[in-house]
Amino acid sequence: MNERDSERVLALLMEQGYRIVSLPEEADLIVINTCTVRKKPEHKVYSLLGRFKRLKERKPQLKIVVMGCLAQQEGERLLDRFPQVDMVLGPDRVDEFTKGLEKAIDGDRVCMIGFKEDPSQRVLLPPFRSPRAYVNIMQGCDNFCSYCVVPYVRGPEKSRPSQEILKEVRLLAKEGVKEVILLGQNVNAYGKKSPGELSFVELLRKIAEIPGIERIRFTTSHPKDLSEELILAFKEIPQLCEHIHLPFQAGSNKILKMMRRGYTREEYLQKVERLREVVPEIAITADVIVGFPGEEEEDFEKTLDLIERVRFDGLFSFKYSPRKGTLASRWPDDVPEPIKARRLEKLQSLQRKITLEKNKALEGKVLEVLVDGCGEREGQLRGRSRCNRVVNFMGPLDLIGKIVWVKIKEGLPNCLRGELLLEEKEVLYA
Ligand code: 5AD
Ligand code: SF4
Repeated sequence: MNERDSERVLALLMEQGYRIVSLPEEADLIVINTCTVRKKPEHKVYSLLGRFKRLKERKPQLKIVVMGCLAQQEGERLLDRFPQVDMVLGPDRVDEFTKGLEKAIDGDRVCMIGFKEDPSQRVLLPPFRSPRAYVNIMQGCDNFCSYCVVPYVRGPEKSRPSQEILKEVRLLAKEGVKEVILLGQNVNAYGKKSPGELSFVELLRKIAEIPGIERIRFTTSHPKDLSEELILAFKEIPQLCEHIHLPFQAGSNKILKMMRRGYTREEYLQKVERLREVVPEIAITADVIVGFPGEEEEDFEKTLDLIERVRFDGLFSFKYSPRKGTLASRWPDDVPEPIKARRLEKLQSLQRKITLEKNKALEGKVLEVLVDGCGEREGQLRGRSRCNRVVNFMGPLDLIGKIVWVKIKEGLPNCLRGELLLEEKEVLYA
């Protein structure tokens, strides 16, 4: 989501004649897009601000903007604490970036935060050509999981009007985009708060009708709202890729309850079973947190057990960190750091083993790959399979932006290596 916001700001700036430079030392404007979802990215912002302060001392006309969730959370406090900052812009105010920047250039110190009622966004295409594009479909979140800062920094859940989304996707398709990734904190809730709006599955069907759109993905789904209708959509809508990101966060019911997630481990496992019944080859990835307040060894064991039962295709795992304003931040952060670190390492090593086994199981299979650029080795291309794996293979540059068939030769820890199939008939006999 932040990546898409950065793209939108870049598109606005390029419209105004700004160009990207390769080093901060060469810039007249530096924009830091921030994330506060965990402690680590927040600390990174403060260290960058220190570095850019020295730059500004040497080049006073340099303008520094802090946007994103930290901007929303800290607001004026950022201006007070960091005299080098010229503008603070909340994530719901991206469309007003250039308006604020004009004031900052005139010498004002600008703070634009808070949430708009109106869910519309200016249609802004990504500034660089790519066969894959992100499209916002909703903002904010109403779920208030006890550890999560998103509802505070991104505001209440709002669905963007479907007509605007469809217009953006049509324009992207005309530009040669083949794959769209629909973004929202809980896509299954799309349209629910807007009377007369399409449902999420109806929106998927409309997008699938747009000529040129060959692949559709979305992120994120909340397990409590993953409907039977959406599960069936994976079978009914050919463009919908066989991959779902379905964060489970914890494997113990005690912790899930304290997290206010609204489902049990049994319900999560049932959803996974149903998904695999309908689409046996579906890839499932998730997010998980270790060291949540009150997490005992037996709770952590249940998380490991859930991972072994589901055998995720990939997992993003994090150590819990208290976030300002959240319910959980009022509870003692009582799992000591070394235990958090040990649990994270144990979980990640289990997942590394599963990911590698699953990647190896694809050896010999033929996968459809959307080529999006060059690989690391000379002559190598890189793309993504429908199951969202990175696939490297040798091939000519003119295949970038195209969909090809690749026979997988080797499953590696983080990607697959394959061989381009030139003839469609090779695919049939593979
Ligand atoms: N501490 C650690 N991880 C967190 N996440 C969200 N809030 C926290 C927190 N306070 C993780 C969740 C979420 C992902 C985006 O970040 O797993 O799904
Ligand atoms: Fe945060 Fe929960 Fe909303 Fe996800 S669903 S953004 S974890 S509050």
